[in-house]
Amino acid sequence: MAPSSAVHVIEHPLVTHKLNTLRRKDVSTNSFRRLVSEVSALMAYEVLRDIPLHEEQIETPLETMTAKVIDGKKLVFVSILRAGGGILDGMLSLVPSARVGHIGLYRDPKTHIAVEYYFKVPNDLHERDVVVVDPMLATGHTAIAAIDRLKEHQPRSIKFVCLLSCPEGLAALHEAHPDIPVYTAAIDRQLDEHGYIVPGLGDAGDRLFGT
Ligand code: URA
Repeated sequence: MAPSSAVHVIEHPLVTHKLNTLRRKDVSTNSFRRLVSEVSALMAYEVLRDIPLHEEQIETPLETMTAKVIDGKKLVFVSILRAGGGILDGMLSLVPSARVGHIGLYRDPKTHIAVEYYFKVPNDLHERDVVVVDPMLATGHTAIAAIDRLKEHQPRSIKFVCLLSCPEGLAALHEAHPDIPVYTAAIDRQLDEHGYIVPGLGDAGDRLFGT
């Protein structure tokens, strides 16, 4: 994989507006879910800017032409359970033919260390581009553990996408995986003593699923 330590902050006004709307504590579960999906679809536009196109013969109503199209099967969205599901929905709305993987990791509440309980990804990752999705890059432990596991399968490329990040999480992820580009809609001030991003948006999983 080509080395890339880039952090891409996607600051399109629509992304920023919707992100800041979902930060509000009085946003309902229903609206939160819809906003996460919308922000993610908008972010996908930037995240997928360099995905490969291949040529296919297609018929227009007037003639045959060679058209450039995406091969969705070569793209894998890997959702970190459970909160990654919100971003996954938004990304799949733009590339419905993409493949999907899931990694189950939970944060030990005392140590904040990531513990794996599920791992299922498509075969032949070495032929595919992987986009890992998780709404919050907080301590970075979960993202690092997920990418550690994915690298065992040698995918063609890996990107990491989150809605919110913080300097601590970005630094940890960069130290562990300097080759992985990160896409985020904002970099918040810091982590608090419980491992939450502040000002943040609270517990993304709880807010998505109403738990
Ligand atoms: N996970 C969340 O859901 N929120 C945070 O602020 C940090 C980690």
